[in-house]
This record gives sequence, structure tokens and C-alpha cells, in this order.
Amino acid sequence: MCGIVGYIGKNDTTKILLDGLKELEYRGYDSAGIAVLGDDKIDVFKALGKLHNLEEKVNDSSSKKYELGIGHTRWATHGQPTELNAHPHLGEYSYVVHNGIIENYKELKEELSNLGHKFVSQTDTEVIVHLFENYNNKFNDTTKAFHSTIERLEGAFSILLITKADPTKVFFFKHGSPLIVAKGNEDDEVLFASSDAPLIGLANDVVYLEDGVGGIATAQGIEFFNDNYSWSTLPTSKQFAQKDGFRFFMEKEIYEQSDVVVDCMLGRLSDDEILFDEIDKSLIKGINEIKICACGTSYHSGLTASYLFERLSKVKCNVEIASEFRYKEPLLTKDTLFIVISQSGETADTLEALKMAKAAGLKSLVICNVDNSSMTRTADATILTRAGIEKGVASTKAFTTQTVVLWMLALYFGKAKNVLGSDKLQSELHALREVPKSLIIDDSMHEKTKRLSKRYLHGHGFFFIGRDVFFPLALEGALKLKEISYLHAEGYPAGEMKHGPIALADPELFTIALMPQNLLYDKIKSNVEELSARDSTICSISPLDFDLSDDFIKINETDHYMLEFFEMLIALQLLSMEISVRLGNDVDMPRNLAKSVTVE
Ligand code: F6R
Repeated sequence: MCGIVGYIGKNDTTKILLDGLKELEYRGYDSAGIAVLGDDKIDVFKALGKLHNLEEKVNDSSSKKYELGIGHTRWATHGQPTELNAHPHLGEYSYVVHNGIIENYKELKEELSNLGHKFVSQTDTEVIVHLFENYNNKFNDTTKAFHSTIERLEGAFSILLITKADPTKVFFFKHGSPLIVAKGNEDDEVLFASSDAPLIGLANDVVYLEDGVGGIATAQGIEFFNDNYSWSTLPTSKQFAQKDGFRFFMEKEIYEQSDVVVDCMLGRLSDDEILFDEIDKSLIKGINEIKICACGTSYHSGLTASYLFERLSKVKCNVEIASEFRYKEPLLTKDTLFIVISQSGETADTLEALKMAKAAGLKSLVICNVDNSSMTRTADATILTRAGIEKGVASTKAFTTQTVVLWMLALYFGKAKNVLGSDKLQSELHALREVPKSLIIDDSMHEKTKRLSKRYLHGHGFFFIGRDVFFPLALEGALKLKEISYLHAEGYPAGEMKHGPIALADPELFTIALMPQNLLYDKIKSNVEELSARDSTICSISPLDFDLSDDFIKINETDHYMLEFFEMLIALQLLSMEISVRLGNDVDMPRNLAKSVTVE
């Protein structure tokens, strides 16, 4: 989500750091900063918004030569996007940049505050540098202090740290979030970055750090803390590097889903409850109903959530398409929590719906991927999905993280309202923890969708069918296919086909049937039998082989329908993408569409 760079060498340190951050800017850009060290002094520059703001600040105030430095471009997770919250973070004589989330930062902050450390930001990152200085003051040994710091941190963290106490060194460590260390092309040069792009052209030999590996770098060389590392050669194309070797951003984002849901759940899932620091208990006090408003893919995650809220929290929940809601003169009551869902936080219809609900005096919550967006500034509370920037126009990881947040929220409500037994809660928490695994992509599944894409290019249309939460998933599958293949597709509740659409059934009608083992399997099976009897071509997605299917995409067997939901989602996303590729379409920028729809 955030981006990190670091440099030691004789070249223009500030320029190399700023150029590196520019390569990472696509990952997040609510603020950026660098800390640079020269003549035993550290200068720091931070700016809000796009990187050129930081560039202007640096160029206006500094022509000094620096020997080393670290930089960061931020996508807020803890704390508003402000200059104070921007990295690098300072203790008294050291600076740190960090990617990831420190789960135990509250405990550490309290402990350090009691020891007299003063905190100025709302971030989790600031505890790292204070912890380091606390140990260094005690041991008078920077290496020992860095090791002791790492031992205390829980969560995900890739770190670069510099200190006046040892001004020739950059301390680094990777756990969870990515970090690369590189030998520069020139003598006595070391570089760091959180992905390949900033290093291209400056270095050839790199170490993609494994979790639990760190070390200390100086101009003279790199000392690793253990042997668990190996050198590789850097790719040479920047576009290729930004896509991490994938063909399209959409493909990269599909593959990223397993990792981003880990970020999405970090710090929010304890042993026996869901924690949302961002929600004040007063937000749900007196609430008897939930109304969700959204557009497109975000609407589909809202529709999925309506099943989960009623099932798990026993709260009445209805969902509306924002553009419809705006003009229907809706009846709103103050015991309703108004939830809007938006990847961008800027969609005009959803924003307007939110403003209407606020004007009617309702409490409001936005589930959003972009902090400091119009919706996060408007709503009473925000839960960030932490999916990182989504570049592909067809939304993938944003939907996944929205759905995970909403599932967690349904459990949060259920617990608060005391309607979830502890066994039920435990089994739901267990299933949530399995979500990252269910999103890991099996080569054979991807291959299968590639092979099937040949067959499903023509015909007179697609029906995606499912029941319960698999109905919104069917809608989402159909939308993905429409967006990037330009083929006609509809999502339908499976039980509703016989009330009209079945009249279309023939071999040229392709039915994509979502058949979970853990929810209403026999019901959907009969619906598919009805279509098969009328010669529709059936492709089933299920853990169970079904003899009437013409084609079958097998997903793993699990013990929870929501895990089947995420496994099927991957199959649907890959199938649409492979059909689009075969048709020669622009996967990342399909015709007629925009990433953020800020007009009515
Ligand atoms: C589909 C897609 C759109 C968006 C919709 C709402 O892949 O991306 O349907 O979901 O335009 O956008 P947000 O979530 O930004 O409000």
C-alpha cells in the first residue's frame, strides 16, 4: 500500500529518493516524505498530497549534499493523511519509514509514554523509532537496540531506520510487507525499495528479502542478520516491474487479493471478537436497521452484506443502488445506520446519497479504499478497506476487501447486540482467518479458465446464477464479464430463472452456475437441472463435480460458504479476464469506462 525507498552513496541522494518515490506513487499518495543525512545532521521534508508537493519543498530549501536517506509515500491506514502523520517519523535523533501495520502499537505507545517518550502523530509507526531510541539509550549499542525493537513488534512491518547515533548506517528489516535491498551500479552504493520499479537502471543485483530477514547497510557493504537470503537479477522494464511481472494490472490485483485481505484484517480480528478502532460504540447504539447504498461492484458487496447482516447480526438490512435512491423520496428513520460503500470515495451518486442521509439526521459510515476522499470526509465514521491502489478499471481486490470488512462488521454488530452464540462467533472467526488461503490461486484453476475461455467467446449470452450470497456474486461475475469482454451477461437468482429467463435456454445460452457445497446445494442443483433439460450449456463452479455440467471449474472443499464465495470469485475474475484476453480487448482500460465516476 505505501512505498519505501532508501539510498546510500555519492550521487544526489534527494533526487534518487524522489525519483524512486515517483515510481511508487501509483501505490498511494496521500502524503510523502524523506529524511536525509549529511555531516551527521538529519534534514526531513514532508508534504501532503501528490509527490510534486514534496519535490517543490525539497528543491526550494535544500541544495545540500547528503550521504544517505530514506523516503516514503503514504496511503493512510492509522491516522489521517496529515503532515504530522506522514513518514519518516522522528524520535529524538532517529528516523524510520515503515510499510505495514504494527498490531500492538497501542500497548507499546502506552509503555513508552510512561517512560517519558512524547508522541506527536496518530500513527502506529512512531512507536518503532521510540522503541529503538529507548533501547539505544539503555544499551548504547544501535545494533542491539534494533534487534530488541524488532523482537517487540507484532503485525506486518518493513522498516528502514537511520540514526544520528550511528550516522553511516541504514538499518533494515522485512516482515510481511515487501522490501528489496540492492547493490548500486556504482561503487559504494546501496539502494532499498518496496518494489522493483525505483531500482531499475540504478542496480542489477538485488535481494528480495524473505520475512524475518534484516541487516545493516553502509557504503562499504551490506551485513545480513542471517543466511536466509540470495541475490537475483533485476528485471529491466518499468511497466513490467510495476505490474510485478503480470500481464495486466487486473491480473496483478487478482493475484494480490490473498495478501490485501491480510492487511484488511490486521488488528481487527482478535481471539474472540472483531475490533474496529475506527468505530465509536455510539455509532451503533439505538440502531435497529441498516441501509446500504452503493454503485456497481460496490453495490454487489453491499447486497452480499445484506444476507450477512440479517443472518449474523439479526438487524434488518436493505440495499439500494445509489442513483435510484437519490430520486425516490426515500423514507429514512433515525434508528437506521446509513452505510455507503465505495472504492474511490468519489462516486457522485453514492456521495449524494450519503449527503441526503446526513441531512436527514442519520448516522453514517463509509467503507472505502481511499482515505481523505469526499466520502470519508463526509461520513461520521470510516472503515478503510486497505486494498491499496486499484489500477485495473474492473474492480477486483476492492470488492474482496469490502466484502471482508462487511462480514466482519456483521459479526461486530452480532456480538454487540448479543445475538451470536460464542460457538457461532468462533466458527465465523475461524472462517475469516481462512480467507487469505481461499484466495491463493492454484495454477490449475488459472489454466482451466484459460482453456475454457476458448469455448465461451460467442453464443447469445451468459446467465450467471446463484442463490443467497451467491446471487450477488453471480451479479458481480456477470458485471466483470460485460465490462472487459463486451459480451452480454446477466446475473440472476437461480430460483427465478423459471419465472421467465428460462425461455432463452438453448445450447448457445451459457449458464455459469455457482454451486456451493455448504449452502443450498440441492436447491441450486435442481435449478441447474431445469436449464440443462432445456439444452443450455452449463459451466458449474463448485467443489463437487456435477454430472450435468458441460464444463466444470473445481474449487477447493471448505467448511464455510463464504470461503466458497471467495474461491468462486477468483474463478469468475480469471474467466472474464481470459475471455477478454482472447478477444483482444484492453483488459485494464475497457472501452467507455472510467475508474472513478464523479458525474451523475
Ligand atoms: C466495476 C466497477 C464499478 C464500480 C462503481 C462504483 O468493476 O469498478 O462498477 O464499482 O463505479 O465505484 P466506487 O466503488 O468507486 O464507488
